[in-house]
Amino acid sequence: MSVKPYPGWEKISWPEKKNHIPKEVFVRPDVFEEELKRLFYGKEWLAVGHEAEIPNPGDFKTFMMARVPLLITRDMNGEVNVVYNACSHRGNQLETESRGNKIEFECPYHRWVFDPNGDLIGCPAKASEFSPGFKKSDYPLDRPRFAISNGIIFVTFNLDTPELSEHLGKQVEDHTAMVLGGGKLKLIGYHKIIFKANWKAYADNDSYHAPLLHTAFRMLSWGGGKGSRFANEKGQRGFISELSLPRDTGMLKDPSLIEYKSGDLSKGSTAVHMFPMFSIVHHLDVINLRFATPLSADQTEAHYAYFCREDDDAEMVRHRVRQSSNLIGPCGMISMEDAAVFQRLHIGGFTPGSAIFQKGVKDEYALPTDFSQNDEAANLLWWEHYRNAMEFGGSNK
Ligand code: FES
Ligand SMILES: [Fe+2]
Repeated sequence: MSVKPYPGWEKISWPEKKNHIPKEVFVRPDVFEEELKRLFYGKEWLAVGHEAEIPNPGDFKTFMMARVPLLITRDMNGEVNVVYNACSHRGNQLETESRGNKIEFECPYHRWVFDPNGDLIGCPAKASEFSPGFKKSDYPLDRPRFAISNGIIFVTFNLDTPELSEHLGKQVEDHTAMVLGGGKLKLIGYHKIIFKANWKAYADNDSYHAPLLHTAFRMLSWGGGKGSRFANEKGQRGFISELSLPRDTGMLKDPSLIEYKSGDLSKGSTAVHMFPMFSIVHHLDVINLRFATPLSADQTEAHYAYFCREDDDAEMVRHRVRQSSNLIGPCGMISMEDAAVFQRLHIGGFTPGSAIFQKGVKDEYALPTDFSQNDEAANLLWWEHYRNAMEFGGSNK
């Protein structure tokens, strides 16, 4: 038995072993505030939406990324725009609906009106009543940098972040294209949830746990699969995992729920995860983008957006809707236990010591370079990127 005092949140001393992650980083509010500055407002691109969520002129969605309210629109020329969701007058939050279609956004406070490009097109009172030289054209909504890759809309709040394609790199862009498959996507729905856990517990979700935590996951025989995966020191990782579906699961009255109509089971589950907390998962016929944001040290919000393909026939759309709403997400058969585990990790995070990675770790003092389908070791490269960006020391620096 080892007796350990509670650390009391002094300076974090990062362990030398690469597979040891200090638990206190999951729970400390001061670490959370530093993460906002260094990661979320730092040199990272953050996924906030997909073009298929706003297919028509005037469509919009709002999204809060790391406390920053965003308004994502498609303008009347069909172009995607991202602006800060705050009026250019006194800063009032402009739009409160999560999505919709508008050609004008009116601030309720003093009724200034903006078009989907963020240009100010109307404000009550004469220009002569405003400050000298007032011109509407000087007061558009401010905007962060944004860019689009594979239809995914990213923002960065930092002017020094490298261009998106450079940041993602060819391997991640190509893997994302493969996961999303060919053809245009069409939105079919959302699951939205607030996890009672730190954002890193959510982002650190591994594939070792899948068939162990999730009883229903065993239907998919994930455990023995010979998948391939990659991970890099930017905290990006991707995988192609093999599944095998039993003819009769015995677990479902209607096994058609886990049919795989559009592909090959050697690639039954493909995914890409991007630092800090964006995931794209194509699991059987479910096409799912997970837009997530940290709310505080102990709360994380995730929007699971589900898609079909524009050329799917009605039967395929129905199949994708059934599979999407039943299989994954916070109430999905094969992943509903995740929320409970994230919360329990958070509770356990207030104890001394480290979270320790084992499966797939061949050398505790070095970063892993090859991974198999059910390892947890690939996550350690994500953690190395995190540690470097946070400048947590340790003798390995
Ligand atoms: S704050 Fe929006 S119109 Fe005044
Ligand atoms: Fe899970």
